[in-house]
Amino acid sequence: MALRKILIHPDPRLKKAADPIASVDDDVRRLADDMLETMYDAPGIGLAAPQVAVMNRLIVMDCEKEEGATPNPMVLINPAVVWTSEERNVYDEGCLSIPEQYAEVERPAEVEVQWTGLDGKAMRERFDGLWATCVQHEIDHLNGTLFIDYLKPLKRQMITRKMQKLKREMARG
Ligand code: NI
Repeated sequence: MALRKILIHPDPRLKKAADPIASVDDDVRRLADDMLETMYDAPGIGLAAPQVAVMNRLIVMDCEKEEGATPNPMVLINPAVVWTSEERNVYDEGCLSIPEQYAEVERPAEVEVQWTGLDGKAMRERFDGLWATCVQHEIDHLNGTLFIDYLKPLKRQMITRKMQKLKREMARG
């Protein structure tokens, strides 16, 4: 396993739709392992392949945030939301590609998602609470959408300018 570099917004790769994964092979399994390691290391609760510059439809997440909780790593290949609740929920969202910036985003409170597992089997599960927010946020990444795209333009521009400044500072070392 290896840590992968997380792209920081703004980056054109974070604005592009990712391609479906045709078959679960060793490359896909290695990518999933690396992404989980990268996510836990960050630390974060979700990561999408485009965030590590791989333009494929794969996300990882683990929303068991409580101290001492048993880890529950999930790998979702070609995930798709197939049902959303009418009830909506507001969460203060963040993103590993937009470090230290948080904003409230409203999304369906519950979603049902279909995906392919690492064993190649078709999966279907309903998510609620933080898991529902996280899975929608990560699937958005596969379509080139960031949580700041839901914010008012002024707030979005403010965050983008902060990230441009951060990237300049990082480039200088
Ligand atoms: Ni994100």
